[in-house]
Amino acid sequence: MEKDISPAPGTTDELDARWRKVLRRRKFLYDIGASGVALSAGAMVAETAKAQDDDAGAITKGDVAILRFLAAAEIIESDLWEQYNELGGAKGGNPAYIAALQNLDSDMPQYISDNTDDELSHAAFLNRYLESKGADPVNLKRFLNLPSSKATGAQNKPRLTNLMNLNVDTSWYTRYRSGENPDSGATFKQAVTIRNEPAIPLNDSDTPPNTPGIVPPLTGKETPQQLRMQAIANTAGFHFGFIEQGGSSLYATMALKATNLQVLRIIVSIGGVEVDHFSLWHDKAGNATAQPLAGVKDPETGLKFPDLNNPPFGGEQFQTNLILPEPCDFLFGEALPPCSVIRPTLDKFAGAVATVRAFTADLLFMGQPKEFFTFLMKLAEEADAAHREI
Ligand SMILES: [Fe+2]
Ligand SMILES: [Fe+2]
Repeated sequence: MEKDISPAPGTTDELDARWRKVLRRRKFLYDIGASGVALSAGAMVAETAKAQDDDAGAITKGDVAILRFLAAAEIIESDLWEQYNELGGAKGGNPAYIAALQNLDSDMPQYISDNTDDELSHAAFLNRYLESKGADPVNLKRFLNLPSSKATGAQNKPRLTNLMNLNVDTSWYTRYRSGENPDSGATFKQAVTIRNEPAIPLNDSDTPPNTPGIVPPLTGKETPQQLRMQAIANTAGFHFGFIEQGGSSLYATMALKATNLQVLRIIVSIGGVEVDHFSLWHDKAGNATAQPLAGVKDPETGLKFPDLNNPPFGGEQFQTNLILPEPCDFLFGEALPPCSVIRPTLDKFAGAVATVRAFTADLLFMGQPKEFFTFLMKLAEEADAAHREI
Protein backbone atom coordinates (compact mmCIF):
# COMPACT_ATOMS: atom_id res chain seq x y z
CA MET A 1 0.00 0.00 0.00
CA GLU A 2 1.23 3.50 -0.84
CA LYS A 3 2.43 5.54 2.13
CA ASP A 4 0.97 9.04 2.44
CA ILE A 5 3.85 11.48 2.65
CA SER A 6 1.80 14.62 2.00
CA PRO A 7 3.59 17.88 2.74
CA ALA A 8 1.98 20.57 4.91
CA PRO A 9 -1.44 21.68 3.65
CA GLY A 10 -1.60 24.89 1.63
CA THR A 11 2.06 24.87 0.55
CA THR A 12 3.24 24.80 -3.04
CA ASP A 13 4.67 21.35 -2.33
CA GLU A 14 1.24 20.18 -1.31
CA LEU A 15 -0.31 21.47 -4.52
CA ASP A 16 2.39 19.77 -6.56
CA ALA A 17 1.93 16.56 -4.64
CA ARG A 18 -1.80 16.64 -5.32
CA TRP A 19 -1.19 17.15 -9.03
CA ARG A 20 1.23 14.26 -9.09
CA LYS A 21 -1.26 12.06 -7.30
CA VAL A 22 -3.90 12.95 -9.86
CA LEU A 23 -1.56 12.34 -12.75
CA ARG A 24 -0.51 8.94 -11.40
CA ARG A 25 -4.01 7.73 -12.02
CA ARG A 26 -3.49 6.65 -15.57
CA LYS A 27 -7.09 5.58 -15.93
CA PHE A 28 -8.04 9.16 -15.23
CA LEU A 29 -5.94 10.32 -18.16
CA TYR A 30 -7.68 7.89 -20.44
CA ASP A 31 -11.13 8.94 -19.29
CA ILE A 32 -11.59 11.30 -22.23
CA GLY A 33 -14.90 13.07 -22.49
CA ALA A 34 -16.46 11.20 -19.59
CA SER A 35 -16.95 14.16 -17.33
CA GLY A 36 -18.20 13.31 -13.92
CA VAL A 37 -16.84 9.77 -13.83
CA ALA A 38 -13.66 10.47 -11.90
CA LEU A 39 -15.46 12.66 -9.39
CA SER A 40 -12.93 12.61 -6.61
CA ALA A 41 -10.09 13.42 -9.01
CA GLY A 42 -12.17 16.17 -10.64
CA ALA A 43 -12.92 17.69 -7.25
CA MET A 44 -9.26 17.59 -6.38
CA VAL A 45 -8.37 19.46 -9.58
CA ALA A 46 -11.04 22.07 -8.84
CA GLU A 47 -9.71 22.51 -5.32
CA THR A 48 -6.11 22.84 -6.51
CA ALA A 49 -7.08 25.25 -9.27
CA LYS A 50 -9.09 27.33 -6.82
CA ALA A 51 -6.01 27.71 -4.66
CA GLN A 52 -4.15 29.02 -7.70
CA ASP A 53 -6.93 31.40 -8.76
CA ASP A 54 -5.49 34.35 -6.91
CA ASP A 55 -2.53 34.35 -9.25
CA ALA A 56 -4.44 33.41 -12.37
CA GLY A 57 -7.51 35.63 -12.20
CA ALA A 58 -10.78 34.76 -13.84
CA ILE A 59 -10.89 33.43 -17.35
CA THR A 60 -13.02 35.12 -19.96
CA LYS A 61 -15.82 33.73 -22.09
CA GLY A 62 -13.38 33.89 -25.01
CA ASP A 63 -10.77 31.88 -23.08
CA VAL A 64 -13.40 29.22 -22.40
CA ALA A 65 -14.32 29.11 -26.10
CA ILE A 66 -10.67 28.70 -27.08
CA LEU A 67 -10.09 25.91 -24.57
CA ARG A 68 -13.32 24.14 -25.50
CA PHE A 69 -12.36 24.02 -29.17
CA LEU A 70 -8.85 22.87 -28.28
CA ALA A 71 -10.33 20.15 -26.05
CA ALA A 72 -12.47 18.98 -28.98
CA ALA A 73 -9.44 19.01 -31.29
CA GLU A 74 -7.45 16.98 -28.76
CA ILE A 75 -10.27 14.43 -28.34
CA ILE A 76 -10.29 14.08 -32.14
CA GLU A 77 -6.50 13.73 -32.21
CA SER A 78 -6.69 11.15 -29.41
CA ASP A 79 -9.24 9.15 -31.37
CA LEU A 80 -7.09 8.96 -34.49
CA TRP A 81 -3.84 8.35 -32.63
CA GLU A 82 -5.43 5.52 -30.66
CA GLN A 83 -6.26 3.78 -33.92
CA TYR A 84 -2.66 4.13 -35.09
CA ASN A 85 -1.42 2.98 -31.70
CA GLU A 86 -3.58 -0.17 -31.52
CA LEU A 87 -2.20 -1.37 -34.84
CA GLY A 88 1.30 0.11 -35.03
CA GLY A 89 2.32 1.35 -31.58
CA ALA A 90 4.88 -0.12 -29.16
CA LYS A 91 2.25 -2.66 -28.07
CA GLY A 92 0.56 -2.63 -31.45
CA GLY A 93 -1.14 -5.76 -32.69
CA ASN A 94 -0.43 -5.83 -36.42
CA PRO A 95 3.07 -7.17 -37.15
CA ALA A 96 2.96 -6.42 -40.89
CA TYR A 97 1.93 -2.79 -40.28
CA ILE A 98 4.63 -2.41 -37.64
CA ALA A 99 7.26 -3.84 -40.01
CA ALA A 100 6.20 -1.39 -42.72
CA LEU A 101 6.24 1.56 -40.29
CA GLN A 102 9.71 0.51 -39.17
CA ASN A 103 10.94 0.98 -42.71
CA LEU A 104 10.38 4.71 -42.02
CA ASP A 105 12.26 4.52 -38.72
CA SER A 106 12.88 1.57 -36.41
CA ASP A 107 11.53 3.63 -33.49
CA MET A 108 8.18 4.41 -35.17
CA PRO A 109 6.08 2.21 -32.83
CA GLN A 110 7.45 3.97 -29.74
CA TYR A 111 6.95 7.41 -31.27
CA ILE A 112 3.35 6.52 -32.18
CA SER A 113 2.63 5.38 -28.62
CA ASP A 114 4.18 8.49 -27.12
CA ASN A 115 2.30 10.81 -29.46
CA THR A 116 -0.92 9.00 -28.49
CA ASP A 117 -0.19 9.47 -24.78
CA ASP A 118 0.47 13.16 -25.35
CA GLU A 119 -2.88 13.71 -27.07
CA LEU A 120 -4.77 11.81 -24.38
CA SER A 121 -3.09 13.94 -21.73
CA HIS A 122 -3.90 17.16 -23.63
CA ALA A 123 -7.57 16.24 -23.95
CA ALA A 124 -7.93 15.15 -20.32
CA PHE A 125 -6.06 18.18 -19.00
CA LEU A 126 -8.06 20.72 -21.02
CA ASN A 127 -11.40 19.24 -20.00
CA ARG A 128 -10.46 19.06 -16.34
CA TYR A 129 -9.11 22.61 -16.45
CA LEU A 130 -12.39 23.81 -17.93
CA GLU A 131 -14.29 22.04 -15.16
CA SER A 132 -12.02 23.57 -12.54
CA LYS A 133 -13.09 26.98 -13.85
CA GLY A 134 -16.77 26.08 -13.74
CA ALA A 135 -16.96 25.75 -17.53
CA ASP A 136 -18.45 22.83 -19.44
CA PRO A 137 -15.98 20.22 -20.66
CA VAL A 138 -16.33 18.86 -24.19
CA ASN A 139 -17.82 15.43 -24.69
CA LEU A 140 -17.87 13.89 -28.18
CA LYS A 141 -18.95 10.40 -27.13
CA ARG A 142 -22.29 10.72 -28.89
CA PHE A 143 -20.37 11.06 -32.16
CA LEU A 144 -18.57 7.73 -31.89
CA ASN A 145 -20.23 6.68 -35.13
CA LEU A 146 -17.49 5.37 -37.39
CA PRO A 147 -16.31 1.77 -37.77
CA SER A 148 -12.97 0.33 -36.72
CA SER A 149 -10.53 -1.36 -39.01
CA LYS A 150 -11.12 -5.11 -39.31
CA ALA A 151 -7.40 -5.81 -39.37
CA THR A 152 -5.69 -7.84 -36.65
CA GLY A 153 -4.73 -5.53 -33.79
CA ALA A 154 -7.57 -3.02 -34.09
CA GLN A 155 -10.09 -2.99 -31.27
CA ASN A 156 -13.62 -3.34 -32.45
CA LYS A 157 -15.19 -0.17 -31.13
CA PRO A 158 -16.84 2.92 -32.59
CA ARG A 159 -14.64 5.85 -33.61
CA LEU A 160 -14.83 9.58 -34.20
CA THR A 161 -12.39 9.59 -37.09
CA ASN A 162 -11.84 7.73 -40.33
CA LEU A 163 -8.31 6.64 -41.29
CA MET A 164 -9.28 4.10 -43.93
CA ASN A 165 -9.83 6.42 -46.86
CA LEU A 166 -7.93 9.69 -46.68
CA ASN A 167 -7.08 12.62 -48.91
CA VAL A 168 -3.86 13.74 -47.26
CA ASP A 169 -2.86 17.33 -48.00
CA THR A 170 0.94 17.12 -48.20
CA SER A 171 1.52 20.78 -49.09
CA TRP A 172 2.87 21.35 -45.55
CA TYR A 173 6.01 19.61 -46.81
CA THR A 174 6.75 22.18 -49.52
CA ARG A 175 5.35 25.06 -47.43
CA TYR A 176 7.97 24.62 -44.72
CA ARG A 177 10.72 24.45 -47.34
CA SER A 178 9.59 27.68 -48.97
CA GLY A 179 10.61 31.26 -48.23
CA GLU A 180 7.01 32.32 -48.81
CA ASN A 181 4.35 32.57 -46.14
CA PRO A 182 0.79 31.24 -46.63
CA ASP A 183 -0.47 34.16 -44.53
CA SER A 184 0.66 36.40 -47.41
CA GLY A 185 -1.42 34.37 -49.85
CA ALA A 186 1.27 31.95 -51.08
CA THR A 187 0.17 28.46 -52.07
CA PHE A 188 2.29 25.34 -52.18
CA LYS A 189 2.61 22.16 -54.24
CA GLN A 190 1.75 18.74 -52.92
CA ALA A 191 4.82 16.64 -52.11
CA VAL A 192 2.89 13.45 -52.93
CA THR A 193 -0.72 13.41 -54.11
CA ILE A 194 -2.49 11.06 -51.70
CA ARG A 195 -6.17 10.55 -52.45
CA ASN A 196 -8.59 7.91 -51.14
CA GLU A 197 -5.79 5.99 -49.51
CA PRO A 198 -5.88 4.08 -46.22
CA ALA A 199 -3.42 5.08 -43.50
CA ILE A 200 -4.14 1.95 -41.45
CA PRO A 201 -4.63 -1.62 -42.69
CA LEU A 202 -8.27 -2.31 -43.55
CA ASN A 203 -8.55 -6.07 -43.00
CA ASP A 204 -6.46 -9.23 -43.03
CA SER A 205 -7.30 -10.33 -46.57
CA ASP A 206 -6.12 -7.00 -48.03
CA THR A 207 -2.95 -7.01 -45.91
CA PRO A 208 -2.30 -10.30 -44.06
CA PRO A 209 -0.93 -9.44 -40.59
CA ASN A 210 2.02 -11.79 -40.77
CA THR A 211 3.35 -10.69 -44.16
CA PRO A 212 7.04 -9.88 -43.69
CA GLY A 213 7.95 -6.26 -44.34
CA ILE A 214 9.78 -5.35 -47.51
CA VAL A 215 13.53 -5.04 -47.14
CA PRO A 216 14.63 -1.85 -48.91
CA PRO A 217 15.87 -1.08 -51.50
CA LEU A 218 13.11 -2.40 -53.73
CA THR A 219 14.12 -5.31 -55.91
CA GLY A 220 10.93 -5.81 -57.90
CA LYS A 221 10.33 -9.10 -56.10
CA GLU A 222 8.05 -7.62 -53.43
CA THR A 223 4.57 -9.11 -53.23
CA PRO A 224 1.46 -6.98 -53.85
CA GLN A 225 0.53 -7.34 -50.16
CA GLN A 226 3.94 -6.11 -49.06
CA LEU A 227 3.76 -3.09 -51.36
CA ARG A 228 0.16 -2.34 -50.33
CA MET A 229 1.09 -2.38 -46.64
CA GLN A 230 4.16 -0.20 -47.22
CA ALA A 231 2.05 2.33 -49.14
CA ILE A 232 -0.41 2.37 -46.21
CA ALA A 233 2.43 2.97 -43.73
CA ASN A 234 3.94 5.68 -45.94
CA THR A 235 0.52 7.38 -46.09
CA ALA A 236 0.41 7.28 -42.29
CA GLY A 237 3.84 8.94 -42.24
CA PHE A 238 2.55 11.89 -44.27
CA HIS A 239 -0.73 11.96 -42.36
CA PHE A 240 1.08 12.27 -39.03
CA GLY A 241 2.84 15.36 -40.38
CA PHE A 242 -0.41 16.80 -41.73
CA ILE A 243 -2.23 16.46 -38.40
CA GLU A 244 0.57 17.83 -36.25
CA GLN A 245 1.45 20.81 -38.45
CA GLY A 246 -2.25 21.70 -38.21
CA GLY A 247 -2.02 21.55 -34.42
CA SER A 248 1.15 23.68 -34.47
CA SER A 249 -0.57 26.45 -36.43
CA LEU A 250 -3.84 26.17 -34.48
CA TYR A 251 -2.22 26.63 -31.07
CA ALA A 252 -0.11 29.57 -32.28
CA THR A 253 -3.27 31.18 -33.68
CA MET A 254 -5.33 30.58 -30.54
CA ALA A 255 -2.56 31.98 -28.31
CA LEU A 256 -3.08 35.38 -29.91
CA LYS A 257 -6.69 35.44 -28.67
CA ALA A 258 -6.17 34.46 -25.02
CA THR A 259 -6.74 37.00 -22.27
CA ASN A 260 -5.89 35.19 -19.05
CA LEU A 261 -2.18 34.59 -18.52
CA GLN A 262 -2.69 31.06 -17.23
CA VAL A 263 -4.77 30.19 -20.29
CA LEU A 264 -2.00 31.60 -22.47
CA ARG A 265 0.50 29.45 -20.57
CA ILE A 266 -1.60 26.36 -21.27
CA ILE A 267 -1.90 27.18 -24.97
CA VAL A 268 1.78 27.88 -25.58
CA SER A 269 2.87 24.94 -23.43
CA ILE A 270 0.70 22.39 -25.24
CA GLY A 271 1.32 24.11 -28.58
CA GLY A 272 5.05 23.62 -28.19
CA VAL A 273 4.52 19.88 -27.97
CA GLU A 274 2.44 19.92 -31.15
CA VAL A 275 5.40 21.55 -32.90
CA ASP A 276 7.66 18.86 -31.46
CA HIS A 277 5.36 16.19 -32.89
CA PHE A 278 5.28 17.89 -36.27
CA SER A 279 9.04 18.10 -36.49
CA LEU A 280 9.42 14.40 -35.74
CA TRP A 281 6.88 13.33 -38.34
CA HIS A 282 8.28 15.66 -40.94
CA ASP A 283 11.49 13.66 -40.75
CA LYS A 284 9.72 10.29 -40.98
CA ALA A 285 7.58 11.30 -43.97
CA GLY A 286 10.77 12.24 -45.78
CA ASN A 287 12.06 8.70 -45.28
CA ALA A 288 9.12 7.34 -47.30
CA THR A 289 10.32 9.35 -50.27
CA ALA A 290 14.09 8.88 -49.98
CA GLN A 291 16.42 6.01 -50.74
CA PRO A 292 16.44 3.19 -49.88
CA LEU A 293 12.64 3.10 -49.50
CA ALA A 294 11.57 5.43 -52.33
CA GLY A 295 9.55 4.06 -55.23
CA VAL A 296 6.81 2.15 -53.39
CA LYS A 297 3.61 1.91 -55.41
CA ASP A 298 0.26 0.78 -54.02
CA PRO A 299 -0.95 -2.00 -56.36
CA GLU A 300 -4.58 -1.24 -55.41
CA THR A 301 -4.71 2.53 -55.91
CA GLY A 302 -1.62 3.28 -58.01
CA LEU A 303 -0.35 5.78 -55.41
CA LYS A 304 3.42 6.09 -55.77
CA PHE A 305 5.94 7.48 -53.33
CA PRO A 306 8.71 8.80 -55.60
CA ASP A 307 12.26 9.68 -54.66
CA LEU A 308 11.86 13.35 -53.77
CA ASN A 309 15.62 13.87 -53.92
CA ASN A 310 15.88 13.16 -57.64
CA PRO A 311 14.53 14.86 -60.80
CA PRO A 312 11.86 15.94 -61.48
CA PHE A 313 11.94 16.61 -57.72
CA GLY A 314 14.94 17.55 -55.57
CA GLY A 315 16.18 21.00 -54.63
CA GLU A 316 14.97 23.23 -51.80
CA GLN A 317 11.32 22.35 -52.36
CA PHE A 318 11.69 18.60 -52.03
CA GLN A 319 15.06 17.51 -50.58
CA THR A 320 14.02 15.07 -47.87
CA ASN A 321 16.49 16.01 -45.14
CA LEU A 322 15.54 19.70 -45.17
CA ILE A 323 13.15 19.10 -42.33
CA LEU A 324 13.72 22.28 -40.34
CA PRO A 325 11.62 25.29 -41.33
CA GLU A 326 13.11 27.58 -43.96
CA PRO A 327 13.01 31.27 -42.95
CA CYS A 328 10.08 32.91 -44.73
CA ASP A 329 8.57 36.36 -45.09
CA PHE A 330 6.85 37.34 -41.88
CA LEU A 331 5.16 40.66 -41.09
CA PHE A 332 5.55 43.83 -43.16
CA GLY A 333 6.47 41.97 -46.35
CA GLU A 334 10.05 42.63 -47.36
CA ALA A 335 10.55 45.49 -44.92
CA LEU A 336 11.83 42.96 -42.40
CA PRO A 337 14.20 40.04 -43.01
CA PRO A 338 12.86 36.49 -43.47
CA CYS A 339 12.20 34.67 -40.22
CA SER A 340 11.90 30.97 -39.41
CA VAL A 341 8.39 30.68 -37.97
CA ILE A 342 5.33 28.48 -37.65
CA ARG A 343 3.01 29.28 -40.54
CA PRO A 344 0.19 29.98 -41.16
CA THR A 345 -0.94 31.81 -38.01
CA LEU A 346 -3.81 33.91 -39.36
CA ASP A 347 -7.39 32.93 -38.51
CA LYS A 348 -8.31 32.55 -42.17
CA PHE A 349 -5.75 29.77 -42.70
CA ALA A 350 -5.04 28.40 -39.23
CA GLY A 351 -7.94 29.29 -36.95
CA ALA A 352 -10.46 26.85 -35.53
CA VAL A 353 -12.83 26.96 -38.52
CA ALA A 354 -9.90 26.55 -40.92
CA THR A 355 -8.76 23.52 -38.90
CA VAL A 356 -12.19 21.89 -39.07
CA ARG A 357 -12.29 22.55 -42.82
CA ALA A 358 -8.81 21.06 -43.32
CA PHE A 359 -9.64 17.94 -41.29
CA THR A 360 -12.92 17.58 -43.20
CA ALA A 361 -11.13 17.86 -46.56
CA ASP A 362 -8.73 15.18 -45.28
CA LEU A 363 -11.87 12.93 -45.05
CA LEU A 364 -11.05 12.43 -41.38
CA PHE A 365 -14.76 12.75 -40.52
CA MET A 366 -16.14 10.84 -43.50
CA GLY A 367 -19.39 9.18 -42.44
CA GLN A 368 -20.17 11.55 -39.57
CA PRO A 369 -23.71 13.00 -39.60
CA LYS A 370 -24.56 16.66 -40.08
CA GLU A 371 -25.00 17.15 -36.31
CA PHE A 372 -21.32 16.39 -35.79
CA PHE A 373 -20.20 19.11 -38.20
CA THR A 374 -22.75 21.56 -36.77
CA PHE A 375 -21.51 20.94 -33.23
CA LEU A 376 -17.83 21.14 -34.14
CA MET A 377 -18.27 24.21 -36.33
CA LYS A 378 -20.12 26.03 -33.54
CA LEU A 379 -17.22 25.37 -31.17
CA ALA A 380 -14.82 26.53 -33.88
CA GLU A 381 -16.72 29.75 -34.63
CA GLU A 382 -16.86 30.61 -30.94
CA ALA A 383 -13.12 30.02 -30.58
CA ASP A 384 -12.32 32.14 -33.64
CA ALA A 385 -14.55 34.92 -32.27
CA ALA A 386 -12.51 35.09 -29.05
CA HIS A 387 -10.19 38.05 -28.78
CA ARG A 388 -7.59 39.30 -26.37
CA GLU A 389 -9.35 41.57 -23.88
CA ILE A 390 -6.45 43.58 -22.56
FE1 LIG B 1 -2.35 17.52 -28.76
FE1 LIG C 1 -0.77 16.59 -31.59
